[in-house]
Amino acid sequence: MKTHAFLSVGVFVTQLVLAATQCVPQSFKDLSLPGGQILTVEAEVLTNLSANVLMPTNYYPRNITGLDVCQVLVQYTHPGQNDTLNVNIWLPLENWNGRYMATGGGGFAAGSGITQLYIPASLGYVTSFTDGGHNISTGGTAPWALVSPGNVNWVLLNDFARIAYNDMATISKSAAALFYGSPPKYSYWSGCSTGGRQGHQMAQSYPTQFDGILATSSAFNWAHFLVMEYWPTFVMNSLNIHPTPCELATLVELATTACDGLDGVIDGIIANPGLCFFDAQTVVNQTFNCSDTGEEMQISQGAATVIEALWTGPRTVDGKFQWFGLNKDASYAGISNVTCNDNGTCEASPFTIAMDWIQRFVLKNTTINLLDLSHSDWDTIFRASVDQYESVISANNPDLTDFRNHGGKMITYHGLADQLIPPNGTYNYYERVLQQDPNAADFYRFFPVPGLAHCGGGPGWYPGDAMEALVAWTEKGIVPDTLLARTTPTAETPARTIQLCAYPKVLRYVGGDINIVSSFTCE
Ligand SMILES: *[C@@H]1O[C@H](CO)[C@@H](O)[C@H](O)[C@H]1NC(C)=O
Ligand SMILES: *[C@@H]1O[C@H](CO)[C@@H](O)[C@H](O)[C@H]1NC(C)=O
Ligand SMILES: *[C@@H]1O[C@H](CO)[C@@H](O)[C@H](O)[C@H]1NC(C)=O
Ligand SMILES: *[C@@H]1O[C@H](CO)[C@@H](O)[C@H](O)[C@H]1NC(C)=O
Ligand SMILES: *[C@@H]1O[C@H](CO)[C@@H](O)[C@H](O)[C@H]1NC(C)=O
Ligand SMILES: *[C@@H]1O[C@H](CO)[C@@H](O)[C@H](O)[C@H]1NC(C)=O
Ligand SMILES: *[C@@H]1O[C@H](CO)[C@@H](O)[C@H](O)[C@H]1NC(C)=O
Ligand SMILES: *[C@@H]1O[C@H](CO)[C@@H](O)[C@H](O)[C@H]1NC(C)=O
Ligand SMILES: *[C@@H]1O[C@H](CO)[C@@H](O)[C@H](O)[C@H]1NC(C)=O
Ligand SMILES: *[C@@H]1O[C@H](CO)[C@@H](O)[C@H](O)[C@H]1NC(C)=O
Repeated sequence: MKTHAFLSVGVFVTQLVLAATQCVPQSFKDLSLPGGQILTVEAEVLTNLSANVLMPTNYYPRNITGLDVCQVLVQYTHPGQNDTLNVNIWLPLENWNGRYMATGGGGFAAGSGITQLYIPASLGYVTSFTDGGHNISTGGTAPWALVSPGNVNWVLLNDFARIAYNDMATISKSAAALFYGSPPKYSYWSGCSTGGRQGHQMAQSYPTQFDGILATSSAFNWAHFLVMEYWPTFVMNSLNIHPTPCELATLVELATTACDGLDGVIDGIIANPGLCFFDAQTVVNQTFNCSDTGEEMQISQGAATVIEALWTGPRTVDGKFQWFGLNKDASYAGISNVTCNDNGTCEASPFTIAMDWIQRFVLKNTTINLLDLSHSDWDTIFRASVDQYESVISANNPDLTDFRNHGGKMITYHGLADQLIPPNGTYNYYERVLQQDPNAADFYRFFPVPGLAHCGGGPGWYPGDAMEALVAWTEKGIVPDTLLARTTPTAETPARTIQLCAYPKVLRYVGGDINIVSSFTCE
């Protein structure tokens, strides 16, 4: 027994040493990329890595220790385009599971950095991120947007929109083949927000690159929804009404309380937002205690108007639909945020990603003052964003025929309390896919998640095992009719577990303990 244990440890250590000695640039000298030119390759062993990943994408938080990887840094260009892109690949030194997982970005960042590599690498995946050709530490703005005043950097925009992720997958799969002697058997995408947009873009534009795609709380419909994210700021500035944050917070609370029970359960979650017709005008002048100041206040007419704008979504000067609004239990503070000065005056705090999109990409001029926009200027900006960029970056083409024919499987989920991206954009896309292919559920499923905020947080459930469900579907044909999810327990409330329903089925409470799976069904 002892000898055996000793031997297997010996073999294990030998393999590890062997793998480690292969982790040198020379091992990757044959890396190549169609349409690309590799500039430099670095390779180095990183041992005994540890990280407490508190906000992972598409996973539950995990504490990683003792991780050993070969880190490969690849820098390349697309000749003639003068761009420089960086891909960072982690190849696990032990227990490679034969799979590759690409990780996505957030905001204007093409990738989320090494933080999101720890969990997949610890599970045995080869995993990577790309910088897409620009600095990913400035995801809230796009300083790279213009090559000169008035001129968009189309090369970097196209890299960011799609090209970089296809490149990354090709490079990472080749690196795995060179390192382990065989390419990955299965390849996966995992991303939320911008990462969700990227995942949908991959299914549409590079339908054979990935076998499974987990693309969640997706920032697709980009040309529409990103302008929408500036709508509450525009409304506040054009009416010159800047309610205090506690008024807006109280309105969200009142709406949540009013609609909470419509799904049969009082739990601070609006599970069926379509039934919630709370009208903010009905609580104007209602007294409340302001949590910021401790003073008693009344809900103002202005605050009701501003919150209705957030909930209704942008409309033209003639009242025509432009895009969806947020649900009524979503926090106002994402895109309807207000900052108050010491003298009591308040101003809108615009969501910088939306502001930057409008200034740099749509108007191509960072000195234009957005405070003075008329409603007709607003409409022109909205149309210009759609006209110039929908086909570039919206990732909303419903034709997934080639992805389906490849045998690809895709799962998306979207929190119904998302404070940044209207969940109705995901319903809208999924419906358009079904119109194109009524059997799309055979390879693409959408799970609305009650009470979940943007990519995490909120009182609702979180499906941190979604990747396991996707892998089982992709490799074993186990169809995810439901998706297991749970809430984060707090001092007052225990963890609640549920099976989320695949759209168009909706969750229904059938009675019993609201914390357990069997108290809900899908219908
Ligand atoms: C690995 O790191 C841990 C801390 O995370 C440390 O306690 C341990 O001694 C390290 N092991 C080796 C072999 O260096
Ligand atoms: C993660 O590990 C670190 C060090 O090993 C420890 O201090 C920390 O409490 C752990 N966190 C969790 C959530 O387990
Ligand atoms: C290439 O890009 C660099 C900065 O990234 C810039 O300094 C240089 O002028 C560019 N060259 C051409 C030919 O555009
Ligand atoms: C990226 O931006 C950060 C923050 O602005 C800066 O500290 C860092 O040096 C930049 N990295 C590169 C490679 O330019
Ligand atoms: C979202 O769609 C649902 C169902 O079509 C609809 O009832 C609801 O009013 C929409 N919400 C918003 C904010 O557009
Ligand atoms: C709120 O109070 C103001 C001032 O007392 C009054 O003019 C207004 O009509 C009231 N509005 C509503 C909706 O009750
Ligand atoms: C505000 O707080 C005071 C003191 O805690 C309380 O008496 C009062 O009922 C509160 N008012 C409202 C509208 O909640
Ligand atoms: C709201 O704006 C303030 C001031 O700019 C900022 O400190 C705060 O983080 C913002 N809130 C959110 C949720 O972004
Ligand atoms: C209040 O303070 C802000 C920021 O300090 C300032 O810009 C504004 O002019 C002040 N308004 C008034 C009415 O004093
Ligand atoms: C940018 O906007 C400013 C202010 O409206 C204007 O003076 C300037 O000419 C504009 N620049 C370009 C390149 O259009």
